[in-house]
Amino acid sequence: MKDLILDVDTGVDDALALLFAVRHPELRLRAVTCVAGNTGLGQVVANTLKVLDAAGAPDVPVSAGAERPLIGPARDASHIHGADGLADLGLPASARETAGVPAVDLLRDTILGAPEPVVVVGLAPLTNLALLLRAYPEVAGNIERLVLMGGSASTGNATPVAEFNVWHDPEAAAIVMDAEVPVTMYGLDVFYHVSVDAPTCAELIGHEEPGSRLAGLLLRHQIALCGADPRVNGDGLLGDAGAVCAVADPEGLTTERLPVSVELAPGHSRGQTLVDRRALPGEDAAHGLSGTARGVDVALGVDALRYRKLFLDTLLSGPPS
Ligand code: BDR
Ligand code: CA
Repeated sequence: MKDLILDVDTGVDDALALLFAVRHPELRLRAVTCVAGNTGLGQVVANTLKVLDAAGAPDVPVSAGAERPLIGPARDASHIHGADGLADLGLPASARETAGVPAVDLLRDTILGAPEPVVVVGLAPLTNLALLLRAYPEVAGNIERLVLMGGSASTGNATPVAEFNVWHDPEAAAIVMDAEVPVTMYGLDVFYHVSVDAPTCAELIGHEEPGSRLAGLLLRHQIALCGADPRVNGDGLLGDAGAVCAVADPEGLTTERLPVSVELAPGHSRGQTLVDRRALPGEDAAHGLSGTARGVDVALGVDALRYRKLFLDTLLSGPPS
């Protein structure tokens, strides 16, 4: 059994990730923290509570965190995730409250209180996790690994070179990538490969069980949004849920330990993750200028069919007993 914390900006694919995390028999979701990203912070919290209700996990503690990046304003992605950030499905509001403590405190207490080191999964801009590591650096001692959906060793999505979560708060991403714990970067190089086809999505929608049906509705949104994108071949993207599949089944991912640094300068490349894939040291090393970051385990390949099956089998196993 692996103890897990999710930091989210729920978000259609964050919702898929929550459903999966709650239902996987080897994962124990200890807490969920919220940050502004795909939509505003208040809406992220509301969406997260609704999804946990539908998932059959109304007791997992949820906290609100940062409502804007460390520097600069919040910039949402409602053109992708809908006006409410959750595909405008009109899900009923949750009757329950948040944990009533700031996200960094819930993160600290959950990490330090866990009997075994926990896996912390960032599926959103990294503001909460950067604040945590700066405020309470002692948490690093009880984190097994940080798994981040973010960045890219190739092209971006928010800009030609920057992935949304890193682009939204590059300073936070730079802090987290440099943490004194093992980091996996589940970036756009694998993010677009894991998806569910339209007939399976229709089957999920036909289920009476609320979590499976919700997954189907969210995937239908993904198909409508990006089904014409050649990267997903008409399928519904699992997105952030793929990063949680990688926690449950790391063997499905191919990673390489590489130096990664985040571009912070203003301009077209701000928020780019510079992944150094050179086989030999370059002139920067000769002049003492390289090595901006410790090694990060960068995901460069994924067994997409394995994760699709893992996701569907897990979802259809129903709510936790
Ligand atoms: C990431 O940004 C958000 O839109 C998704 O939820 C995912 O975390 C992809 O760049
Ligand atoms: Ca997200």
